[in-house]
Amino acid sequence: MKSVFIVAMAMLFGTALLIPSIPVYAEEDGAALFKKQKCYKCHGKEAQGSKDQGPQLKGGKFMKENSDEEIKKVILNGRVGKDKKYKEYKKKMPKFEGKLNDQELGTLIKFLKEEPAP
Ligand code: HEC
Repeated sequence: MKSVFIVAMAMLFGTALLIPSIPVYAEEDGAALFKKQKCYKCHGKEAQGSKDQGPQLKGGKFMKENSDEEIKKVILNGRVGKDKKYKEYKKKMPKFEGKLNDQELGTLIKFLKEEPAP
């Protein structure tokens, strides 16, 4: 009887531990993708923007004013040739078509739409 109680407690405790870790995971995934795809090289480690390289994403105007669909388009198609919008950045936004699936795009966009850490 005692062991049943212990097992039940362990399961309860285990579940309690799992639940709060789910949103943390989602956040980490966005940050991990940002790193893995090397977005940080042009947009800054915290997506805060990097002088001459790439515009601010996290907390920036573009992320606030555009729908997920619009943001997806920019990431997939990049901004090459005449699509380039800003003159102050030497680099170009490369195409990520075929490099990110829809779920990864969603995770990345969610991460970029969060407010930056103070
Ligand atoms: C080689 C450098 C480089 C890399 C790598 C890069 N970007 Fe960019 N990105 C840019 C530049 C430069 C611009 C601005 C382009 C322009 O002038 O229109 C830009 C623009 C953007 C924009 C539009 C922002 C705005 O204000 O119009 C988004 C969103 C974006 N990038 C997301 C990403 C994501 C997400 C990744 C990684 C998957 C990434 N970028 C990787 C250089 C880069």
